[in-house]
Amino acid sequence: MKRAMQQPTVQLRRSVLYVPASNEKALRKSASLACDAVIFDLEDAVAPGEKVAARERLRDFLAGKDRPGCEIVVRINALASEWGTEDLLAARAARPDAILLPKVDGPKDVLEADAALDETDAPRALKLWAMVETPRAVLNLGPIAELGRDPAARLTCLVAGTNDLAKDTGIALTPDRRHLAPFLLQMVMACRAGGLTVLDGVSNDFRDLEAFEAACAEARAMGFDGKTLIHPAQIGPANAVFAPSPEAVAEAEAIVAAFAEPENRGRGVISLDGRMVERLHLEMARGLLARARAITERQR
Ligand code: COA
Ligand code: MG
Repeated sequence: MKRAMQQPTVQLRRSVLYVPASNEKALRKSASLACDAVIFDLEDAVAPGEKVAARERLRDFLAGKDRPGCEIVVRINALASEWGTEDLLAARAARPDAILLPKVDGPKDVLEADAALDETDAPRALKLWAMVETPRAVLNLGPIAELGRDPAARLTCLVAGTNDLAKDTGIALTPDRRHLAPFLLQMVMACRAGGLTVLDGVSNDFRDLEAFEAACAEARAMGFDGKTLIHPAQIGPANAVFAPSPEAVAEAEAIVAAFAEPENRGRGVISLDGRMVERLHLEMARGLLARARAITERQR
């Protein structure tokens, strides 16, 4: 449809599932799942003794007929590790949408990966994502996220690594995450400043979906675009919580319609159902409706 084609593209990242590259069954299952993106993991989910075999398996899988149609990301081992360079080359050859860098400490780590990709003549469309999971990354959030303003740096998304952050800081991972919240909010702020997507960390207890839904709702309230997941059962709840609710869609439609009224066209602020509505709300409403449309498209 002509109208739909004129809309700016919205990249949905409500549900982003880690799939260990060492797990053949999980790899095969990934193509049938309704997540917005998959992160094929060569790092923490793969034991040192399995690293090389996992890399081979992933390469074969992504070259085969079961390659998922959603956004594809490969998490490599740190470039400084013994597997990093080979992982980067294998990932680049598999033509993912992005490569996820673990244990990033500062902007230099991102720029190094970018330079390594440039050396292989990787297309500019190949993006970089970065984990925020070390104390130094948290302290360097501003400079890391600022790379989002430089298209040459390839960086488009930051991912919270809450398990590693808890391990490296001693911060307790309580169910309400009250001690982590300040850092997570700082991350959201940095990503908005840099124009990056921001994804929350995983919920380890994949059997307790009620708690998971609450965690998603909290992440959404903090401003996250989506959540990283470890299990297929978490996809449905994440997709639902990070989608605009029918009430929010109706409200957005009402705001767009109100500003389209001839008497409101030139006005900066109007009154709608007893509330002040400004043009910034119109902008938010349009963004929300674009997301809602993208979700409907995805479900087709
Ligand atoms: N991606 C794709 N498929 C997955 C999956 C994942 N992350 N996790 C589980 N599955 C599949 C299983 O293979 C199984 O498939 P089947 O129905 O064909 O038999 C099905 O989903 C049900 O799995 P289940 O038996 O409930 O879980 P499990 O005991 O096999 O696995 C974990 C549990 C936690 C080991 C597994 O979910 C996992 O490895 N998750 C990702 C961990 C990870 O990547 N960590 C690093 C980043 S934090
Ligand atoms: Mg980690």
